[in-house]
Amino acid sequence: MNFKLAAVIALSLIAGAVAAVAAIPSLRQAILPAPMQKSSGKALIGGPFKLVNHRGETVTDQTYRGKYTLVYFGFTHCPDICPASLQVISVAIEKLGKDADKIVPLFISVDPDRDTVEKMADYVGSFNPRIVGLTGTEAAVRQAARAYRVYYAKVENKDYPDDYTVDHSSFYYLMDDKGEFVTHFPHGINADDLSKAIAKALN
Ligand code: NI
Repeated sequence: MNFKLAAVIALSLIAGAVAAVAAIPSLRQAILPAPMQKSSGKALIGGPFKLVNHRGETVTDQTYRGKYTLVYFGFTHCPDICPASLQVISVAIEKLGKDADKIVPLFISVDPDRDTVEKMADYVGSFNPRIVGLTGTEAAVRQAARAYRVYYAKVENKDYPDDYTVDHSSFYYLMDDKGEFVTHFPHGINADDLSKAIAKALN
């Protein structure tokens, strides 16, 4: 076996291992550090942000103190992931009944160029009036995403420059009434399970 061939085999083994890890959620959890904890036990998810809600009012993380928040990052042009997630949020919140008043679902745009206040208002309104859409300057959105350790990246479309998409991570973050991280839920969770988990945290 010459060196080149050995290198190719080694590389394919590594690629295979990476693909296997990506495919097995439990293994991925074991390998990738999920919600990072400080030694104090405080999670490093969440933090200060300053954005504009879909009514055009400037808000910060402090605005929502006293209520739990369910934080989700996405964008209104998202073809499938975000609509599905907002539908899950909407149904989960309605299933809470009276407890729905204790939590504010926040939908934070990772596409501030296209997601204007008006666009956000139309979008969240089409799902559930309880959902608050947040957008802002590019820097403000970056700051918020960083606080929540959310990945997003613009994917250009050479043929249709206005038709770019945005890759983004898709987790629901449950924060308590002091703005502290409680837990996160994966994209695949259904409305019933999400609602039950939120109810448990609230009571
Ligand atoms: Ni999306």
